[in-house]
Amino acid sequence: MKLSSKDLLGIKELEKDEITLILDTASGFKDVLKRDIKKVPALRGKTAVNLFFEPSTRTRTSFELAEKRLSLDVLNLAATTSSVAKGESLIDTSLNVQALGADFMVVRHSSSGAPHLLSRNVTASIINAGDGINEHPTQALLDAFTIQERMGTIEGLKIAIVGDIVHSRVAKSNIYLLKKFGAEVRLIGPPTLVPEEILSLGVKRYHDMELGLDTVDVVMMLRIQKERQTGGYFPSTLEYFRFWGLTSERFASAKKNAIVMHPGPMNRGIEIASEIADGSQSVILDQVTNGIAVRMAVMFLLAGIRE
Ligand code: CP
Repeated sequence: MKLSSKDLLGIKELEKDEITLILDTASGFKDVLKRDIKKVPALRGKTAVNLFFEPSTRTRTSFELAEKRLSLDVLNLAATTSSVAKGESLIDTSLNVQALGADFMVVRHSSSGAPHLLSRNVTASIINAGDGINEHPTQALLDAFTIQERMGTIEGLKIAIVGDIVHSRVAKSNIYLLKKFGAEVRLIGPPTLVPEEILSLGVKRYHDMELGLDTVDVVMMLRIQKERQTGGYFPSTLEYFRFWGLTSERFASAKKNAIVMHPGPMNRGIEIASEIADGSQSVILDQVTNGIAVRMAVMFLLAGIRE
């Protein structure tokens, strides 16, 4: 089986079988990453360019490591140090990067749809590393990999996503994926951040943490995305933590073996208490580790489309 597109733009567009293929392939790459020599020659001679027009710690470094583990040649371009700062358009930048010989462009941009625009203008494979409030597909894939690794399956699990859903591309990609895999998805947060329209995605909505977390298997916490908020969505961060922060007392409503996830960056004391973030049921750093194998799998499978 092969992926059906040269690009990875979102989870919405992927079939369940394609996601399963990526996760199974990632499992093989995770074994590679446990070896002394954590590198395979799979994509030797190919070139990847990481185009990050927004800050990133985990996604950018994880893609760069994944690319190096696959023996790709890697270039990193940041908005502040590229000619974008001199007014060059996104399309012109991507055409120039392609003229340099890029086979892959990994794109993070504050505008929803930026990777889709590039995919129509270049022949290189475009991988969405987070576009505005739209999608962050590799985050949802690494989250799914981590859930399967810990819980054995996604089907039938009760999964709570808590916080700033409306501004979260991570939440959107996760909702699409988890629904395709038969999970019950509960969204928890203030009405301003979990609007009624989101119910059209087949999820349940809660404004009370204890009710929403009741007997869940997975709790996925989200950061308050201040950079994307245009108004006062809640009175203060102190107030937010009081009602929707994940504390030990609140986590007691979940199943005994429930896991805690967070895509990062994490704001301790705003959406999550340190005792939970650093606790034995937290898989937050496993998510980061698994991101490398998942991104290797995505690039390896996209390369198969281009051959
Ligand atoms: N999870 C995530 O996208 O983190 P970064 O913003 O650090 O890449």
